[in-house]
Amino acid sequence: MAKPLSVLFVTSESLPYVKYGGVADVSYSLPLALRDLGHDMRIMLPKYGCVSERRNRIHEINRLRDVPIPVGSHSDPATIKSSSINNPRAKVQAYITTNNKYFDAKKGIYSDAKTGKPYPDNHERFIFFCRSVIETCLILGWFPDIIHCNDWQTALVPLMARTTFAKEFKKTKFVFTFHNINQQGEFSEKLFDLTGLPQKVKNDLIYKKMVNPVKGALIYSDYITTVSETYAKEILQDSKNTNDLNVLLLKYKKKYKGILNGIDTYSWDPKIDSLISKKLGNNFDDFKQANKKSLAFKTGLNYHDETPLIGMVTRLDEQKGVPLLTSAADKIFQEDIQMVILCDGSQEAKNELRDLSLKYPKKLKVRFGFDEPLAHLIEAGSDMFLMPSEYEPCGLNAMYSLAYGSVPIVRATGGLTEIVSDFNPETKTGNGITFKNYKSGELLSSIAKALNLFKNKELWDVLIQNGRSGDYSWSKSVIKYDEIYKIITKD
Ligand code: GLC
Repeated sequence: MAKPLSVLFVTSESLPYVKYGGVADVSYSLPLALRDLGHDMRIMLPKYGCVSERRNRIHEINRLRDVPIPVGSHSDPATIKSSSINNPRAKVQAYITTNNKYFDAKKGIYSDAKTGKPYPDNHERFIFFCRSVIETCLILGWFPDIIHCNDWQTALVPLMARTTFAKEFKKTKFVFTFHNINQQGEFSEKLFDLTGLPQKVKNDLIYKKMVNPVKGALIYSDYITTVSETYAKEILQDSKNTNDLNVLLLKYKKKYKGILNGIDTYSWDPKIDSLISKKLGNNFDDFKQANKKSLAFKTGLNYHDETPLIGMVTRLDEQKGVPLLTSAADKIFQEDIQMVILCDGSQEAKNELRDLSLKYPKKLKVRFGFDEPLAHLIEAGSDMFLMPSEYEPCGLNAMYSLAYGSVPIVRATGGLTEIVSDFNPETKTGNGITFKNYKSGELLSSIAKALNLFKNKELWDVLIQNGRSGDYSWSKSVIKYDEIYKIITKD
């Protein structure tokens, strides 16, 4: 490669520390893939109350103890700790912002685990985090070539660096990646001063009478990316799911690109996955059967070889299409199928699914919370994997499903259209089952198509093989990030 660049990848969640959604997978796997290309990658994230310092080998660094972090007119101390993320090929330094009031005292990442409600001071928590990123660079005297921010929680970093600290960060370029532009982190205009930003940038940050960190990041970043080409295109026409920010994005089309995520092929390889019950050897059917048995046992279902088992791992956001599933549930569960759902979200959505599982105790099992081993076992042990999303920026679970021979049934939207193609029994092409319109009738027909194919072992094997033979690694996409990094640091 040409000149390696120094890059600080800023995120609000990353594996192995903490996960709410796919951002945590990408925040782990993309920096490692970029490190593998030769860049000096480091990541930075907050330490929430649910993260164990001992288990994750997080320790103090002398220089970064009790650093005062201003939030508006007061200040609170952050101790920035050190850790690392690794896979067998690469290792990346991690800086972890710790503070009791904003992070440690709270168990959840964004919401109170008991009520499912977002913390009322989320805006303040992430202003604090963004400022801790700046202060860390200042103390270390390290001004990376690139600061790569992800989603609204990190969106104020480019604004802070480009205004108050413009001199120090004069050489640094900024990339902003959104994983869901519907989440913009807005808060009251009256609280603008908490950001510590100069009044002259206020106009760039205020949107529809609110402070809107994402709007600011779109303006102040050198490059904007999102996590698939299709989603990048779709949202340019979508004012509903962008809060009308599509208009601003259109203006920045020249510095905007969709790049499909990849997966970490060490964590998500059924041949070496230590989180599942039986690794994949020479016989796929043995692998699937053993994991299906174990999944049924762990969740309390009776195991039946010939009954298709559908898996789902999802946040209960509207985006993910759970209402489509619940409205069609009575018809779905008339079929001879079983289903396991691992999910997290609002109490209301959880209650609805719990009620459904009580109505169909022999067919549906629901588990709540973040459970990485169970997520892996669901991919390994289910025959099919359901993602009826209303919209989907990327949809990493579809890639995991394909790699683990769990046939994805998805709505063709966003990244899912690039990952999954509809199986045609005549040409024997396609790796999953897709439907076009967000309608429960179409979901039902897709499930019916899957159940029919499942009965035809010969076709089913081809369908699974088509999925398993795909390349879902970062290899192609990481080059695109590398290109963007090079373009913006050229001058
Ligand atoms: C968000 C998106 C999802 C994507 C993930 C990682 O969770 O909803 O589609 O796969 O981010 O980019």
